[in-house]
This record gives sequence, C-alpha cells and structure tokens, in this order.
Amino acid sequence: MKLVAISGSLRQNSWNTALLRNAIELMPTGSSLEILSIADIPLFNEDVEAQGALDVVESLKSSIAAADALVIATPEYNGGIPGVAKNAIDWISRPMSDQPRVLRAKPVALLGATPSGLGTAYAQTAWMAVFRALRMPLWAGEGQYMVSRAFEHFDSEGQLVSDELRDGLQAYLQGFVDWVRNSK
Ligand code: FNR
Repeated sequence: MKLVAISGSLRQNSWNTALLRNAIELMPTGSSLEILSIADIPLFNEDVEAQGALDVVESLKSSIAAADALVIATPEYNGGIPGVAKNAIDWISRPMSDQPRVLRAKPVALLGATPSGLGTAYAQTAWMAVFRALRMPLWAGEGQYMVSRAFEHFDSEGQLVSDELRDGLQAYLQGFVDWVRNSK
C-alpha cells in the first residue's frame, strides 16, 4: 500500500510538514508514505495552462495517480485553506479530463497542525467542499486528526513528543490504511 502526501506549507520549519515526517515513521506495516513537494508549482493561470503541461504538475499527477491514497497536512490560514495548498490541488485537478486518472475516487485523509488552540478545524472543514467537487472520499472514521498548540508538542527536530498525539496519529493512519484496503 503506497500513499503519497502533500504539505500545505512551504515553510522550512512547518509544523504540518513535520507532522508528515512523523507519519512516515508511524505507517502501518506493509504501507509507506512519500511526501511530494508543491514548492515549485507556479500560481494557477489558465493562460499558462493553455501553453502546455508543466513538468512539475505532471510529475505530481503521476505520483498521485500511482498511489493508493493521498494524505494532506493542512495549515489553517484565516479560517480556511492556505492558498499554496489550494493552488496545488487546482493545478493537479487539470485538465478535467485527467481527473478520473488522478484524483477521482482517490481516498484522502487530512492532518493539520497549528500553534493556535483551534487545531485547523476550519481549514479541514473547508477542504471537504473541495473533495466533494473532486469526488474524493475523505477518511473520517477516526474523526479529525489535528495538533493544536503545536509548539508544545514538537521538539526542535520536529518530532512529536506527546505520546497521546503519536498514538492518535498511528491509530488514524492505521484506520485510513485499513479503510483504503477494504474499499479496493
Ligand atoms: C495563520 N495562522 C492561523 N492559525 C490558525 O489556527 N487559524 C487561522 O485562521 C490562521 N490564520 C493565519 C493566516 C495567515 C496568513 C498566516 C501566515 C498564519 C497561523 C498558522 O497556523 C501558523 O503560521 C502555522 O505555523 C502554519 O503552518 P506551518 O507553516 O507551521 O505548517
């Protein structure tokens, strides 16, 4: 079972990217998680799109198409989805004729981390509308996984130091992988 992941933050010391690095270590036996970079994707512009496919986008699309499932670690900006993350998904969703190959019916799970106390709940809810539009089934069997007050729960190397959050992440990933396996 091969999963790929996108972090919705380009920041070097991003909590969300750190969360994905922790997730790699906590994946169930027989499964793997690879983080894909969205750092080189330009701002979406239909004029640019009309000039031809971009290598960086095609490479991401191929990786997602080949994966069994997608994980997105989302920050929350102004109560919603950060622009860079939505921009990446918008590119990946194009052209619409490629959606069945790349995103349609691709199982997706959300993670999120924030220094605030609200734990990316609004951003995660905002993603639901995007997944509905793209017809992507969202894993919700373990509820939402989020890290609030991130500065208290990661060490300086980006390791989750809270046993409760590590165990919760492991259970969330196990549930997601089982769900993906059973839905095949
Ligand atoms: C934020 N941040 C933030 N946090 C939150 O919990 N709810 C919010 O609505 C917002 N809004 C917001 C807007 C903008 C423009 C920025 C730059 C930041 C704080 C945000 O959670 C924080 O910067 C995280 O560290 C971003 O995630 P990464 O980069 O650590 O993964």
